[in-house]
Amino acid sequence: MIPQAFIQDLLARVDIVDVVGRAVTLKKAGRNYLGLCPFHGEKTPSFTVSPSKQFFHCFGCGAHGSAISFLMDHRNLGYVEAVHELAQMAGVAVPSEPVRDGRAAGMRQSLLEANEVACAFYRRELKQSAPAIEYLKSRGVTGVTAARFALGFAPDQWQALAGAFDSYQDARLVEAGLVIEAEGKRYDRFRGRLMFPIRDRRSNVIGFGARVLDDSQPKYLNSPETPLFHKGQELYGLFEGGEAVRKKSRVLVCEGYLDVIQLAQAGFEESVAALGTAITPHHVSALLKLTDTVVFAFDGDDAGRNAARRALQATLAVIPDTKTVRFALLPQGEDPDSLVRAFGAAAFETQLSRALSLSQWFLKSLCEQIDVSAPEGRAAATAAARPLLESMPPGGLRMQLVRALAEVVGAAAADLEALYGLAPARRLPGAAAGAGATAARPSSARPVESLKAQLLRRLLAFPELAREFAPALNAFLADRSDQVDRQIAEVLAAACAHPRASCAALLEALAESEFAQQYRTLRARDLQLDDDVEAVREELRDGVLAIEEARVRLELSALEQLELSEQVRERSRALLRRLADLKHQRGAGLARP
Ligand code: UTP
Ligand code: MN
Repeated sequence: MIPQAFIQDLLARVDIVDVVGRAVTLKKAGRNYLGLCPFHGEKTPSFTVSPSKQFFHCFGCGAHGSAISFLMDHRNLGYVEAVHELAQMAGVAVPSEPVRDGRAAGMRQSLLEANEVACAFYRRELKQSAPAIEYLKSRGVTGVTAARFALGFAPDQWQALAGAFDSYQDARLVEAGLVIEAEGKRYDRFRGRLMFPIRDRRSNVIGFGARVLDDSQPKYLNSPETPLFHKGQELYGLFEGGEAVRKKSRVLVCEGYLDVIQLAQAGFEESVAALGTAITPHHVSALLKLTDTVVFAFDGDDAGRNAARRALQATLAVIPDTKTVRFALLPQGEDPDSLVRAFGAAAFETQLSRALSLSQWFLKSLCEQIDVSAPEGRAAATAAARPLLESMPPGGLRMQLVRALAEVVGAAAADLEALYGLAPARRLPGAAAGAGATAARPSSARPVESLKAQLLRRLLAFPELAREFAPALNAFLADRSDQVDRQIAEVLAAACAHPRASCAALLEALAESEFAQQYRTLRARDLQLDDDVEAVREELRDGVLAIEEARVRLELSALEQLELSEQVRERSRALLRRLADLKHQRGAGLARP
């Protein structure tokens, strides 16, 4: 592993404008540079490079990142290769000595290494297992494809991994979910199964899927939750399909490992799958960040229909007006794998071309379940659609869906909106778009929550301010079970650990975090944000005061529930004084020029 300190140093030495400038003609436009995006065909430049943030972002296709990610994406290099390339440009040598930095990163890294060792072991085993090779052949998977997806085989033995690791007692084996420990005994989790390594976008093996070779149960096993692997968030095929997703500007989402593999083999390399879980808003927003068009291809059975309904719900919660999501419902009894094998790639392409638009599937899924020919049915459909529409961020798409629904249920759109209480709501300036899912339901906790989310964005954008505000903010991050609190704490820690880090360098320092993808997205969205450090400092200052104010109020209202004792009175008085003080300070901040 290349030490993070070196990466930080490297990013501080090079200028992203030079790095990108070697491949793209850039013109200065205000504080930033502008050029034609090398990642998608465009005639008017929307590819922006920010020297102050050392970051690039394309407003056309969404590509974004640091000098390292630029080299990775543009030259199709691995992370390590890109670092070497960059080091060469900067005229420095990459240290070869592996150095551990930070306990969490070290732990993650050591689990990744364990997975890597296991993955290599399973691959070697596959080459020697006639039944497993036979099985792959029977499913039409070629050797090339098996290599592309790094497929392997776990021998049918209780402790096969003992042959791959120096010690079978290695704690990492259990932590990585490779080995199960029960009643003092240890044994391999995956036995007698075809192994599908699940890789993140940087090709790290974060977990495994595993299929039996016959029809015993359970058909598939997956890695358990580990520090590396969160089943409900991951997608299979992101690494293998990343390049194709970018080239073809679309991603196909199917249900199974073998669907992804078979589709890739048939020329649809841009395929991914959720790991046996329903599609979540998290999945959809991650995919929409990669590309503008997402096409779901679901099995033609009841389970597939249900999955498509869940995907619709997940999509509605997060889709912006500028993106396209479509739903291909395959013929009864087929999944992408069987369809491609039986009828060929062209047949699958035909299914894709017939995919329903979001609005079509929205209406069809309602009318499939409810007969809208009678007034009662139309009322039921109106009620059934309500939670779906309420979950949507206000915008053009919601308006269109309301209109389309109005037509089907024979009502005026305005009446529906009134019925649902969907006043054309205004979004708070700067409110995170991802919060759209909860926007419809205000709760007392929300102002502080969205405030913290905004603070997080500012901290990512201005590492120097993160360092400055770390002491004040750390005092308020009591609730480490809260995700945003954990994220803020992590960003503060990273900013303090790398005192010279630019914004892009901070992101690299956070690259192995479980929230890395979210951080990158938050950053990308902020590139257009004003660079005025003073204004942001003022925002942060006010944010810290606001958080404290909310806490004081919370404690005050808790005290109100208590019986009045001298102690309670004393504390209340102190809190009220603090509240007045906070208000005064906040007011003073606002009054500044
Ligand atoms: P399917 O049952 O549709 O299987 O499960 P499939 O992908 O078509 O598998 P083949 O073609 O029989 O090999 C779809 C996905 O659901 C998850 C897996 O991720 C699978 O790819 N799954 C399924 C499980 O996690 N566990 C199971 O027991 C079954
Ligand atoms: Mn299948």
